[in-house]
Amino acid sequence: MAKTWANGLDLHLDVTGTRVRAKLEASLRAAVRSGRLHPGMRLPSSRTLAADLGVARNTVAEVYSQLVAEGWLTARTGSGTVVAPRSAVPGPDTTAARDPAPPRYDLRPGEPDLSAFPRREWLAAGRKALAAAPDHVLSYPDPRGLHVLRAVLAEYLARARGVAADAGYIVICSGFAHGLAVLCRALRASGAVSVAVEEYGHQLHRDIVAAQGLDPVLLPVSDLGAVAGAVGSADAVLLTPAHQFPLGMTLGPRRRRAFAEWGGIVIEDDYDGEFRYDRQPVGAVQALAPDNVVYAGTASKSLAPAVRIGWLVVPPRLLDAVVAQLDGGPSALDQLTLAEFIASGGYDRQIRRARLAYRRRRDRLVVALDGLGMRMTGIAAGLHAVLDLPSAEAERRVCARAEDHGLALDGLRHYTAAGIGDAGADGARRAGLVIGYGRPPEHAYTTALARLCAVLASSLPVSLP
Ligand SMILES: Cc1ncc(COP(=O)(O)O)c(C=O)c1O
Repeated sequence: MAKTWANGLDLHLDVTGTRVRAKLEASLRAAVRSGRLHPGMRLPSSRTLAADLGVARNTVAEVYSQLVAEGWLTARTGSGTVVAPRSAVPGPDTTAARDPAPPRYDLRPGEPDLSAFPRREWLAAGRKALAAAPDHVLSYPDPRGLHVLRAVLAEYLARARGVAADAGYIVICSGFAHGLAVLCRALRASGAVSVAVEEYGHQLHRDIVAAQGLDPVLLPVSDLGAVAGAVGSADAVLLTPAHQFPLGMTLGPRRRRAFAEWGGIVIEDDYDGEFRYDRQPVGAVQALAPDNVVYAGTASKSLAPAVRIGWLVVPPRLLDAVVAQLDGGPSALDQLTLAEFIASGGYDRQIRRARLAYRRRRDRLVVALDGLGMRMTGIAAGLHAVLDLPSAEAERRVCARAEDHGLALDGLRHYTAAGIGDAGADGARRAGLVIGYGRPPEHAYTTALARLCAVLASSLPVSLP
């Protein structure tokens, strides 16, 4: 830091090395923002400050002009350059508005390894797609989304997930959460009153159902997945058939058929269907009953939540109602990029790479917990698995100790619908951990795993059944 004295003023400006102009501009802006240079304070002339800093006078003059244009400084002939009154200070403080740092070691479910996002290929796909796109693509898009994306998705979903898909019935949305809200509004407008939701799942999704004016009714989940016979008089049901979230079982074949033949609308949340490790992927229920099942997919697990692109394959009888509820989807430019990324094979490559990496992680987790005499469930697919614990108290103890070790862990209670009591109270809820092994970057996984084992060994001295 070069201490800079000018006109008796200590400016503390750091303008050494390269990019002198940018540094001077940033230092002055920060000094005004923090109040170190207070409103009305007169700055040295550009000549004096330039001499003091050992930079060209023009550099200082340009910086002053820029900061005057932005409203940080004012300049009047005869009275020099002065720090502007506070009310004129514009713009958000971007340095203060940083996103909060994530926990150091994070084994919560819900996100893939963000460090594995294929940045280079994504950028290349975006560049190529935009260069080739006709101008009209930049206009207001079809509310269902860009045709080019819907067409490549139709082919991809048929091939990879067995979905009976036609581009005309695919609707692009801003992730599953947005798609679910749109669907619920469409169901409500068509006269629906209630939606059955799995008793273990995301509170966010239950809230979305309720926020659209529908009644979320809890559906029991057994070791074969959601209990089809318990759907009652609900108008629709929200399911995670390929890998129940968060318990991890696959919906049993009989129940798949029962839901497909049920007659009400089934919303199939296929959030991590591409990640199955030990046998062939379980195809979509939608293929059994395309007239009754809305298939929902997302790029949040296969790429990253920030992509904010999801897709619905809508039964023909529901399409108009859904389109009527669409309220804007993801940027057409992002849709173009994803379309090119899928068409060029980049999406398949990314999934193959990720599947291999997550399977290795899953295997390491299984071996590590095996060493402690612990067995997980829900390990056949996805990016998370469940470790049952003897009691809700044990779950709380493990999560608290993990926090002390800089490790973020989620207990099953985060995903249990309100109204299901803790095991031990009424014996109804399962206690355990939902371990998201997909989330840490590769270099942090070994330590995250070691901490998990240390926390479990010290919190649960007795071997689990
Ligand atoms: C069960 C489930 N469904 C869907 C999603 C994806 O939601 P979105 O596409 O809104 O990111 C997630 C992501 O965490 C999830 O866990």
